[in-house]
Amino acid sequence: MTEFSFNQTGKSNAEVKIILASGSNFRSGKFISEDEVAALKNAAKKQNFEGKNGTFAEINNGKKQIILAGIGNKSTSLSQQILGGKIYKKICNSTNAAIYIPTDKKNQLSLTETACNIALGIELGGYRFDKYFTKKSADSYPKLEKIDFYGEEKIDESKYPAYQALASSVRYARDLCNEPANNLTPEIYADDIERLDYLNIDITVLEEDKIHDLGMDMLLSVAQGSVNAPRVAVLQWKGNKDSKEFDIGLVGKGVTFDSGGISLKPSANMGDMKGDMTGSAVVVASIKAAALQKLPLNIVGVVGLVENMPSGSATRPGDVVKSMSGQTVEVVNTDAEGRLVLGDCLWYIQEKFGVKRIIDIATLTGSTMMTFGFEYAGLFSNDDKLSADLLKAGEQTGEKLWRLPINADYDKMIDSDIADIKNCGPRLAGGITAACFLQRFIQDGTKWAHLDIAGVDRDEKGHPLTPKGATAFGVRVLNQFLRHMK
Ligand code: BES
Ligand code: MG
Ligand code: ZN
Repeated sequence: MTEFSFNQTGKSNAEVKIILASGSNFRSGKFISEDEVAALKNAAKKQNFEGKNGTFAEINNGKKQIILAGIGNKSTSLSQQILGGKIYKKICNSTNAAIYIPTDKKNQLSLTETACNIALGIELGGYRFDKYFTKKSADSYPKLEKIDFYGEEKIDESKYPAYQALASSVRYARDLCNEPANNLTPEIYADDIERLDYLNIDITVLEEDKIHDLGMDMLLSVAQGSVNAPRVAVLQWKGNKDSKEFDIGLVGKGVTFDSGGISLKPSANMGDMKGDMTGSAVVVASIKAAALQKLPLNIVGVVGLVENMPSGSATRPGDVVKSMSGQTVEVVNTDAEGRLVLGDCLWYIQEKFGVKRIIDIATLTGSTMMTFGFEYAGLFSNDDKLSADLLKAGEQTGEKLWRLPINADYDKMIDSDIADIKNCGPRLAGGITAACFLQRFIQDGTKWAHLDIAGVDRDEKGHPLTPKGATAFGVRVLNQFLRHMK
């Protein structure tokens, strides 16, 4: 991660100097010399710089690089973070940079918030997963090490650790999601999660025998075709000392690889299914962020970690299994495995911890991906307030959600002829019937929301805050939601 300092003053000697501006008439104090100001004004004019968010004007003569970065009018936390991501691209080949933030009436956010947002954007946009390259030359790696912020007024640097907590948690989740499935089996993954106990997160890992004793046969039916045994990891963050109850439960799908099982997927892009554990990584990382930020909440997370493989011991289409809830399920398609894992985890979290408010998150259906492309995650819920709060957090963070309906008519589509439920309906409304399946494991009086992040879990092209590869979509929206939860 990048090293930041927040209260530099006077003239900067950094390799690259950046000045935030909402118009061509910028202020820069003593940050650069008068000659440089004149040259930069000239450049701004020639390059038609008007200060719009995310636009740049610059002087770059090989030796000296001075950049005007447009922050625009009425910037938001999100637009400032995106600007940070864009700034990262401009400066990543220098080892150090300095950023000047003027006092500006057009900026509704404080200097402190602005600096923190830009820094967060740099940390999110500057993420890379390069551990498996052995032959790349040193030149092809980004060089950026340190950034100094210069504020026209004092920046309160004590605010930054909360942003840094979010950045490091998102990056942690992306690392987990990008990791190939041969190096992230359920067992390895659970061991990794256990290392978070240094943050005073209470972690329990349930192994196969225990999962069996609990009656989570629906989850086990997914794992039984793989040589890699399943795990269920339970994470508790108790930041609300006034209460013994849990304020919220988080449940995540952790299918470390989804081949489809006997209902085998086509081979094209099957490798992307190493990311079918994104929901679980988002849950784990959200609890990591909450612990780093010391949020005054009691949060319990349950993640079901399994590998879905075809083999002689795999579940067959047509098999009937019993869930922990006692309901029987006909597995008509072994590729609809995520809901089998989640159903037992949802039941377990309610039974064991008595949580009355739950959010689950999962790369659950190709159907939701077809609906929204890479723009929105699907939101399904039995509670309007919970939905509204999540939708708002989505808008604020840019991890956008869109609510879809669930009702009795859709629910009927997963009635089975030979058991209580079947694990998928007809081809129609696949994201919705998947949500209906999950709802059959929600007890009366539990407020519940389900986020289907299939599609948005990866970025194919790369954006300012999400370089190509795993996005860890969900960590930012859940952190925003948890920090403002009432
Ligand atoms: N993991 C997939 C869903 C998925 C698809 C995630 C694309 C990310 C990108 C899930 O387990 C699955 O296979 N769902 C099936 C369900 C169907 C068989 C009812 C699907 O959506 O095709
Ligand atoms: Mg599947
Ligand atoms: Zn899956």
